Amino acid sequence: MTQPLQAVPSNGSNTGFLDVVRSELQSVEHALKAAVASEVHAVDAVAQHVLLAGGKRLRPATVVLTARALGLQGDSERMVAVAAAMEIVHTATLVHDDVVDNTSVRRGAATANAVFGNGVAVISGDFLLARAVSMLAQESETRLIRTVADVTVDMSEGEVQELITTGEPKLTEAAYFALIHKKTASFIEGCCRCGAIVAGADSDLERAVATYGLNVGMAFQLADDLLDYVGDPAVTGKPIGTDLREGRATLPFLYGLQRASNGHRERLLAAFASPALREASIAAVVRTLDNLGAFDHAREVARAHAETAKQALRGLERTVYRDALELLADYAAERDR
Ligand code: IPE
Ligand code: IPE
Ligand code: MG
Ligand code: MG
Repeated sequence: MTQPLQAVPSNGSNTGFLDVVRSELQSVEHALKAAVASEVHAVDAVAQHVLLAGGKRLRPATVVLTARALGLQGDSERMVAVAAAMEIVHTATLVHDDVVDNTSVRRGAATANAVFGNGVAVISGDFLLARAVSMLAQESETRLIRTVADVTVDMSEGEVQELITTGEPKLTEAAYFALIHKKTASFIEGCCRCGAIVAGADSDLERAVATYGLNVGMAFQLADDLLDYVGDPAVTGKPIGTDLREGRATLPFLYGLQRASNGHRERLLAAFASPALREASIAAVVRTLDNLGAFDHAREVARAHAETAKQALRGLERTVYRDALELLADYAAERDR
């Protein structure tokens, strides 16, 4: 292992927290490459296509940073395996998500469904999930396996909840928050719990990092839903307007709808869930929501979760890893990709 950094480097962007665990993340990349191998060329091709196309690797970074912040030292095969398994599960759900969201670009590349068709994409997603489980099965600590299984259950429930509320523009905010909790926040909470388990942390510290992860996850999905309106596809690697087009009411839309005058309200509702929505209509909705303060509001709510996340770390010793986790929380709320 290389010498740990003494401070989080400012690398000109706000992702210096990744540099703190650069060598661990390189080991994760090796584990990911090994995990995609299959005798069946098509399976191999899809898995490689999506898993090695990039991605921010935030979930493995969260596992590793949490384990280090809780005192885990030296090389740890177990930490690397769990971090890689989390990224594989995440990627598998993205492959499935792109089928249900009808999207054709992800991580700056064509989605698996666009290249190989829905059938191959669905089964290859299953292949990735099974590979992750098989990696974890070599693990004697059953709490790790249970944590990964539990958060995958939550994520599936959240995705299904989202699907069955598709086309419903008047979702309550409470229902929206419950949904993003299940589909995204629970997973990042699970990454932190796994980090705590591999570090052998006591239950108080595990609870603290779980609260951190949950709130980072909320901030992260709030930012995702904001970027779906205001992101730059060249930066995010995915198109904008998907939620609107697919009839998914997220916080900016719900907030805007509550505050819109009658005329604007009708136009927002008309634009909602029209698959043939043209770029011009998306731009008009974006303008309306912006004028109503919906994007500022969503960013503020994301920031509030990031603050709660950072507060939860108070009981941890101050180390470069805790600093990095704090920066990761800010990044989750502020990110532009
Ligand atoms: C996208 O996750 C899905 C959400 C839960 C918002 P990421 O934004 O982390 O996607 P990658 O891994 O960087 O592609
Ligand atoms: C996140 O949902 C996907 C999962 C949690 C599985 P989204 O549909 O909002 O994510 P993107 O925008 O496609 O990345
Ligand atoms: Mg989705
Ligand atoms: Mg999607």
